Amino acid sequence: MTYSQIQEAVDNVAQKINRDMKDVDTPLFLGVLTGSFMFFGDLMKRINFECEMCFIRLASYEGTSSKGEVKQMLGLTKSVKGRSVIVVEDIVDTGNTVQELDSILRDSGAREIKYCSLLLKPGHYTGTIKIDYPALEIPNDFIVGYGLDYDQLGRQYKDIYVLDEEETSKRKNINIL
Ligand code: IMP
Ligand code: MG
Repeated sequence: MTYSQIQEAVDNVAQKINRDMKDVDTPLFLGVLTGSFMFFGDLMKRINFECEMCFIRLASYEGTSSKGEVKQMLGLTKSVKGRSVIVVEDIVDTGNTVQELDSILRDSGAREIKYCSLLLKPGHYTGTIKIDYPALEIPNDFIVGYGLDYDQLGRQYKDIYVLDEEETSKRKNINIL
């Protein structure tokens, strides 16, 4: 998927958010680090109402704890009590992350929570939380670029690529999505 196709999808999703949220009192855009950083920047340039921004960083437990559990590496740095929050994610895959975010935000007293994600894999998503603003729906491939990483690499690519899983050499092969 090329940068210009991504920008078109960001235009569309920004338009919807601008239309839906324009009368809400200073919503808070909450970017989920690290993967959403590029999308967050491109999205926010298009938001035309007064709002605040902050970031949160979560990580899946590895090692002794069971998979699917998520811990907070950087917690909420602003109060969300009584506020409208728009979560900005890079990708919703199984939905574990948005599920955890939802409990964090509810426990912290958010009044309304909307979910915006650059990418959604409907074939993997098993959650019950509604993704209000998915910019793009994609197949179950593992993708890299435009903020998303493979083993921490490739976040800076401006286009989105599919990781070639057949690749046996140490250098991973990528193809444009
Ligand atoms: P979840 O399964 O919805 O909780 O997604 C967890 C996280 O895994 C996402 O926020 C991404 O950071 C990462 N992730 C899921 N799918 C991909 C992918 O295709 N490429 C890169 N990262 C991914
Ligand atoms: Mg993420």
